[in-house]
Order: sequence, then structure tokens, then C-alpha cells
Amino acid sequence: MWYNNILETIGNTPLVRLNNITKDISATVLAKIETTNPGNSIKDRMAVKMIEDAEKRGVLKPGGTIIEGTSGNTGMGLAMAAIIKGYKCIFTTTDKQSKEKVDALRAFGAEVIVCPTNVDPEDPRSYYSVSSRLEREVPNSWKPNQYDNLANSQAHYEQTGPEIWKQTEGKITHLVVGVGTGGTISGAGKYLKEQNPNIKVWGIDTYGSVFKKYKETGILDKDEIYPYITEGIGEDFLPQNVNFDIIDLFEKVTDKDAALMTREIARKEGIFAGNSAGSAIAGLLQLKDKLKPEDVVVVIFHDHGSRYMGKMYNEDWLRERGFLKDEKLTARSILAKRSNQEVVTLDCEKTILEAINIMKTLSISQLPVTQQGMVIGKVTESNVLDSLLENPSLKSSPVKDIMTASLPFVDLNTSIDKISSMINKDVSAVLVEDEQGKIEIITQYDIIEAISG
Ligand SMILES: Cc1ncc(COP(=O)(O)O)c(C=O)c1O
Repeated sequence: MWYNNILETIGNTPLVRLNNITKDISATVLAKIETTNPGNSIKDRMAVKMIEDAEKRGVLKPGGTIIEGTSGNTGMGLAMAAIIKGYKCIFTTTDKQSKEKVDALRAFGAEVIVCPTNVDPEDPRSYYSVSSRLEREVPNSWKPNQYDNLANSQAHYEQTGPEIWKQTEGKITHLVVGVGTGGTISGAGKYLKEQNPNIKVWGIDTYGSVFKKYKETGILDKDEIYPYITEGIGEDFLPQNVNFDIIDLFEKVTDKDAALMTREIARKEGIFAGNSAGSAIAGLLQLKDKLKPEDVVVVIFHDHGSRYMGKMYNEDWLRERGFLKDEKLTARSILAKRSNQEVVTLDCEKTILEAINIMKTLSISQLPVTQQGMVIGKVTESNVLDSLLENPSLKSSPVKDIMTASLPFVDLNTSIDKISSMINKDVSAVLVEDEQGKIEIITQYDIIEAISG
């Protein structure tokens, strides 16, 4: 059995139960993994549907050019379909989108124009405006306009919704979807509610977007709009594909929660999904108290993690935005970071001359002094020097005669902040007994190394 071209492989994506990240949710949670589409996103479905609809209506003619403003995934679907069907593509996108997404579109031979993010949609520089202008100027061109083209929702009404209904054997009680153009949630949600009007449809929105407030108040509040990091969901206008009557509620998720949850999905479920999957799961967890054990929730995972390698899956990117939960450094982690250095100690009956020789040979400035293996004090370069200057004959005396108070001991879980606060002019280091009972020393130098490493 084979397919006649790559477009025939779109759809019939797997539905997979989540077992770990959703453990605090009593209901069964299933993810619709749209990454297995050939363009690695759900958008393949609607891209082909919009093209076929335009062909039928005669607005897209043979050899024509497809012009669209797209964050990448729709572009990928369009570019793939354009190759099979013999069209050219010009895409406008924003400078917020992952470089990987732009490069992927170019890999399919599309021309990509990157426009500024932080301008109004009506601004002539916006990616919406640039694509509209190109449509007027480029002969034999067609702009799908995924936001207002209802073939977008129709694709999900015909495919995504029925697949979910069949795969859950009609048991679905909740559909949870990140909302961008609104095509996925409105199309799939409409189909599912036609099968069972009790199914709840929850939209996931982001801070900086207008959807939630509009749903709750009917007001398109410009004050809700500000730049955000989350990709693929939220808008600063109301696309016609968002059918607010189908959506029961919107939940907003922060950029940070979405980014960190995206990573958790990979780590805890082994599913490499994109940013909006993280938003959707984070949003679902925020709504968990609305669910009952017998509920069956389907969450859409729109696209693939590989498109976010420079972003959510890059620790430097996360750190720059303060998103990374760095583990607090402790005595244990400081010791783990440096090479093993067992502390040299000196028995209290040994002579001061022996202490001088050891410090000289090992280039160290202090020695813990022990009695029957227990640390009882310390000698330092400076207190040896002071004593000898005062009385040179002390050389052959035992170190116990000149030793000073021991360095303080800390346990392995003591935080780096606490250790730093203990180190001062008189206490130059702390001692730690490691898991094997060996005594180790942590100096100021070790702390600096641990922080900067
Ligand atoms: C990664 C990602 N997530 C979610 C969405 C939202 O899907 P829809 O446009 O169907 O609302 C999109 C598309 O805009 C997307 O690219």
C-alpha cells in the first residue's frame, strides 16, 4: 500500500494518554499528537483545505502565487501543498518567530519576508499589511487569509473533530485547544458539540491577547494587548475563525508557564511538542478543579518541538528571560562541581615545623588540626608566622600549642548563601563531612568557581 503524494499522509494522527504531567488531574487526559502530519503540525490540514477550496472557487489558478502572513506552520503546509500542486509561495512572518520556522519555509523553496512584531495590524509594516500589499501587486496571486478564511475551521470540522470522536468512541467530555486563528477549536469543537452538546470546549489564550476578555465581556480591549513570547496562540484582533459561541471559556497562561511546561512534556511524557502544547497543558492544570474522574479530556498538541530548539529547548534562552529554575547550590553541589580534594589534616601532636613543611609543599594556607581523627582546631600561615616571630624556638613544639578555633562545619545541604555568609576575615573556609565520612573543605575560591561555572 502506498500514498500517491505526501499530502495524502495528512491526518489520522494518534491520540495518546498522558500519564505523568497530568497526575494531579483526576480525569483521563489524551493528547492529539499533530506532529505526525508531514509538515509536523496540525496546520497541514487547513492549508490543503484552503487551497482546494480556492481552486474550486476559481480564485487560485494554475501556476499562481500563494501569499500569506504566517507564523510558520501554516506556511509549511501551504509550501508543501504548493510543491505538489505547482504553485509559488511568498510568506510574511514576524521577527518573533523561531528562526527554525523561517528556515524550514525557505527549505521548501518559499520566499519569506520577516516583518516587525510590535506594530499594529493596520501598520503598513505589519505582516498582515505587507502580505495584503503583495497580493495586490503580484499578478495571479491569492491570499488564503487563514484568519478569516472559513475553509480553515472547515478542515477541522471535517477531519480533526471526527477523528477525535472516533478515537475516543464518543467518550470525550472536554476539548482543550490553544487558540490562534481559531480554526482548530471552532471546527473541531463544532463537530464534537453536534455529536454531544454537553462536551465542553476550552480555549487556551495568552497574556497580551484579546480573546479571554472579549469572550467574558464582549469588549475588544486594546489595553489587553502587549508583546508576548508564546508562539501560535493569542491575537490582537478577532479572526473570523474564532467562533466564540462554540468556546465555553478561555484560560490565559503566562509565557513562563507555557515554556516550562513545553519542556516538561518532553521530559515526563517523551513527547517532543511545540510551545502551544505547553500552554494547553499548563492551562488545563489551572482548570483541573473543574474536572471529574470520569471525564475524558482531549488536548491538541499543534506542532513539533524541533521548531523551538533555539527557544524553549535552549537553556540560555530560558535563562536570559529568567524562566529557568536553577537548582539552588548547596555544599553538596559545590563539592560535586569540583574535582575531589580530600583535606590534608595534621595531628595535634605534630610539630609546627611539620605544619610549615606541609603547607609549603602543598601550597595551602591552612591546616585543620585533629585529635584521634576529630577536627579540634586549625593552624594558618599567618598564626604560624606570628608565633615564630615571637619565639623562634617554638618550631619543634606541637601544633596544639598555637592552633586556633576550628573552621566551622556545615552539612551537605547547607545553601551557598549560608556558606558565603559564614566566610569572613577570620573564618576563611568551612568544613563538610561527605557521604563517605571524609572531611572536605570549601573555600571562598570554591564558591566563586561554583557560581561562575
Ligand atoms: C503552534 C501553534 N499552536 C496553536 C495554533 C492555533 O491554532 P489555530 O490557528 O487553529 O487556532 C497555531 C496556529 O496558529 C500554531 O501554529
